[in-house]
Amino acid sequence: LPENERQLLKLYDEATKFYHHLLINTEIGDTALQYLYQRGVDDATIDAFMLGYAPTDDVLLKYVTEKKYDYQLLRESELFIEWDDGSLHDRFTDRVLFTIRNQTGAPIAFSGRRLSNDADVAKYMNSPESILFNKSNELFNLDLAKNDISKSKTVILFEGFMDVIAAFQAGIRNGVASMGTSLTQDQVQRLNRIAQKINITYDSDNAGQAATQRALELIGRFSQMKAQVIHIPDTQDPDEFLRSQGVEAFQNVLQHNTEDPIAFNLRYLKGNYDLNNQVEIFSYIREILPIIASVNEPVVRQTYLQKLASEFNLNYDGLNEQLQPLLLTKI
Ligand code: CTP
Ligand code: MN
Ligand code: MN
Ligand code: MN
Ligand code: MN
Repeated sequence: LPENERQLLKLYDEATKFYHHLLINTEIGDTALQYLYQRGVDDATIDAFMLGYAPTDDVLLKYVTEKKYDYQLLRESELFIEWDDGSLHDRFTDRVLFTIRNQTGAPIAFSGRRLSNDADVAKYMNSPESILFNKSNELFNLDLAKNDISKSKTVILFEGFMDVIAAFQAGIRNGVASMGTSLTQDQVQRLNRIAQKINITYDSDNAGQAATQRALELIGRFSQMKAQVIHIPDTQDPDEFLRSQGVEAFQNVLQHNTEDPIAFNLRYLKGNYDLNNQVEIFSYIREILPIIASVNEPVVRQTYLQKLASEFNLNYDGLNEQLQPLLLTKI
């Protein structure tokens, strides 16, 4: 490794331990600690994920200044923001910190969550990209989950940190998060190397469902993984569902509340149309026939067509006739 990369890893390691110490051992971290307890996170999990607390008043800067780090290195670390007068200040203030680790488990970035519900403050603030951190490459928790993914050949893809953490605490250890809703090609290809199945367990709100559609598209295009969509009931995030319903109920959802990509898309796209209107029903059908045509097995294709015919009271042969040219143009 280049010397400055080694130094940056050391700096991140120290910053992680320092923030963790502030969270668990000091008065100043108590509000943040209570916040995590209140969300059901226990001490062992706080340790396993090296969760932390970043206070105000540039405490990190003061801490690392004592350790005589090179000023240029501090700038490159992105742990600080630089004011117009050239002075550095802690980037994360009054936030619970999620440590983002690389494949070998070394801290390379942070995401800080606000403690309040104050909508004027961004809910999450993330480290920008740096020498260590290439955002589109990393998946939260891949280092800890890798073994369980390899063994089960299955990965659970969540949206958020708290979802992965709640699952981990419940003994479900093959979960990773794309850290937001925009999965990337790199992330998909990385998972494809160790998993054969991917269970997309995004939030059940609109943003989560839209992100699921995009994820399915990417996974279909850039991997051989068999994708399934897991639907969390009651518009809850996975972590809320786990906390309120328990791990058995969650396992049950993982087993049974599943849709294959086609079924997901047929259901999801319905939301774009007023299905009381005959013209819109036909538009919906025009949009989904290419999706049905993309299914390779004739019997599965015909099952979807049949369902469609009976759902909208349409003639099966007519639907089938409309599907045929789409089958021929398939590549
Ligand atoms: N995220 C982000 N910046 C935001 C909002 C979200 O980077 N302003 C990322 C975070 O990685 C977050 C994920 O997107 O974990 C999912 O977003 P969201 O569902 O809004 O947050 P939750 O993880 O559900 O947050 P919480 O449970 O803490 O409220
Ligand atoms: Mn500890
Ligand atoms: Mn969400
Ligand atoms: Mn969420
Ligand atoms: Mn949430």
